[in-house]
Parts: sequence; structure tokens; C-alpha cells
Amino acid sequence: MKIENSLPLTQLPEAPPHMGLQFTVATEEDFDDIMAMSQHIYGGLDYIPTRYTDWLQEHNRTVILARKHGKVIALESVCVIDDGETVLVEGLRVAPQERGKGVAGVLLRFCSQLVKSKYPEVKVTRLTRDDQLGPKDFQKYRLITKQGILLVRFRAEQLKSRLAELSADGDMLTSPSAPPSSSLQVAPVRLDDTAIQRLYLASDLMHDVLPNGNIVQDWQPFKPLSSNMDILLKKDIDWLVDDPARPSVASLCTWPFRVPIGDHWYYLNIDMFGKDLALVRRQFLCHLRRHTATLKGHVMCQMFLDPPLWKPMEEFCRRALGVELVKEYTEQCVVESDL
Ligand SMILES: CC(C)(COP(=O)(O)OP(=O)(O)OC[C@H]1O[C@@H](n2cnc3c(N)ncnc32)[C@H](O)[C@@H]1OP(=O)(O)O)[C@@H](O)C(=O)NCCC(=O)NCCS
Repeated sequence: MKIENSLPLTQLPEAPPHMGLQFTVATEEDFDDIMAMSQHIYGGLDYIPTRYTDWLQEHNRTVILARKHGKVIALESVCVIDDGETVLVEGLRVAPQERGKGVAGVLLRFCSQLVKSKYPEVKVTRLTRDDQLGPKDFQKYRLITKQGILLVRFRAEQLKSRLAELSADGDMLTSPSAPPSSSLQVAPVRLDDTAIQRLYLASDLMHDVLPNGNIVQDWQPFKPLSSNMDILLKKDIDWLVDDPARPSVASLCTWPFRVPIGDHWYYLNIDMFGKDLALVRRQFLCHLRRHTATLKGHVMCQMFLDPPLWKPMEEFCRRALGVELVKEYTEQCVVESDL
């Protein structure tokens, strides 16, 4: 079952009359209005400009706009995943001048009603937040899992030269021609589609590695199910693991994409699962080497990792890599409530 983007608007439930809001299904033509109300969102790291067109094509997703006097003032996307049992809420935003008036709450409730009527089999709603959650939020949501967020920035060309001075484990090479200190150890393994399916779906080897059993990829939490793998395998992701036979650390690096913070700014997202610091460092370096080989310009690199690893990785980033820390410790929280 799916919501078509061409869903006749008469089928959308009515908005509460006192808010003076109308709801419509977003189309290509709405892009400029959405961008106009999204300025400075997420500190310039908004992913919607690069994802919007794809979002409109995805059969399991609907993007809903709230309008006031015809003008777009809020957006929310709902995407059905986990074999149809979960709706993922993404992209939630309210125009700056309309914030603090309860618009987000009305839009969230409207979209829940819509999903309930169109997808009766959906049981829960999930979303990923990075703001400070308070007692009121925990009355509404259960915490499913959380990861620390390490956000650093660098120029790709500079980091590339720095990486050339480091071994695969992140130690300084004594001389540029010296072999990496870890050359005798096994390097992280890049997984192809078959290996990904084997590891994540056909075995329970990843069970203790994944945060509460979820593959959280670039803010999207997926249960390891075949239907979710179909979604994940369509994306440009580097999948690494330390040892496919006995995995301790697995990572997913989303292909860098442009963000509106400035010209030639890219966003590099790395989801890191596992608790072994040395292996995490090695896999992080492996992702960085791959992408800085071709990337030119400024990079905002965001790594999501087990919270206790944040501090040592932050020190490593500053001291060994010479990159700049953008933000102190924050958390990426996956929360859930019954629909
Ligand atoms: C976060 C944001 C959408 C809140 O919009 P708002 O209309 O000002 O929200 P309000 O403060 O009036 O809160 C109203 C409701 O929204 C909910 N809400 C607020 N922030 C939320 C968030 N980040 N995720 C989910 N719900 C949120 C509140 O819990 C409240 O719910 P209730 O009506 O059930 O009590 C808005 O400040 C915004 O667009 N910020 C920039 C983008 C952003 O940070 N988006 C969040 C992505 S997770």
C-alpha cells in the first residue's frame, strides 16, 4: 500500500481550523518556496536541496507542506519502512517567523492521521533528533538508541596531505617511504552487495555491533530486514567492516554531497558501529582516504559513534589529523512512539 504523490488533496484530512493552515502534497514546483523558508537550517547543512527530487520519486514516501494564506510555512516527510511497520518522520521544519506557535505539533499530528488512514499496518513512528530531549519528549517518545555526533571540518586537499603522513592506524610514519605500521594486520574489508546481505541479513553476527540492532544510516534508522536492504543498496554508501567472519566494527560512509553552507562545501557522513577505538580509528581513516582522493574543497564531516568513543576520537581528529572541531558533543537520538 502506498500514498501516491498525486493523491487528490480532497483526501487529506482537514487541518484544525483555528491554525488557519492548509496541507498539500509537495511537488517539484514547491522547491523554491521550501528553500526560501529553510535558510540557515541545520547550520547550513541541510540535506533537502540534494534529496528533494529523489524524495518525490520514492514510492514509500510522501512530503507534506503546511500553508498559511497559500504560503509554504512548514514541511514534513513521512516514509514507510521496516516491512511497512514503521513510519519515519524526516525533514521537519517550520518557517522561522512561525516557530513557537505549535505548528510542528499540528503538522506531526496531521501526518500521523494521514499515515494511519493510508497505511493501517504501520504500528510506530520513528524520528531521529539531535536537540536536547526533555521530560515532555520522553512522555511522548521511547529512546531506541543514541550515538555521539562528532562534527569536524577541513579542506579536502589539506587532509589528503596529512593522511599521507599517517599509517593505516593513524600513527605518524617515521619516513614517507616506511611501510605502514599495520601492514601486517588485516585492513578493513569493503563489502559488496552480496557480502552486505550475507552479513547483515543472513547471519546474526551484526546483532551486538549495531546500536540496539538498528542500521542507522545518515539519520535514518532501519531494522536489518530485506525490504530495508533494498532501500539501502540503492544508495551510494561505502560499507566497511573490520572482519566479516567476526565483526567488531562496521561503518557506512554516505557518498559526499553538496550542502548550502557555501560554494564547494561537501557533507561527509560516517555512521560507525562498534566499541573498539583502534578499529574505529582505522575505519574512519580508510573512509577519509577514499573520499579525499578525489574531493576538492571544504568538507563538513560528521561521524556518529558510540558515545564513549567521542572524546578519544575528537582528540585524534584535532591532534593527528589537524582538523577543526565544529561542535562540542551532541547526540543523535532515535526515538519512537506508537502511532
Ligand atoms: C523544530 C521545529 C520544527 C519546531 O517547530 P515549532 O512549530 O516552533 O514547534 P513548537 O515549539 O511550537 O512545538 C510544537 C510541537 O512540536 C514538537 N517538536 C518541537 N521540536 C521538535 C522536533 N525537533 N522533532 C519533533 N517534534 C518537535 C513539540 O514536541 C510540540 O509537540 P506537541 O504539540 O505535541 O506538544 C522548528 O523550530 C524548526 O523548524 N527548526 C529548524 C529545523 C529543525 O531543527 N528541525 C528538527 C529536525 S528533528
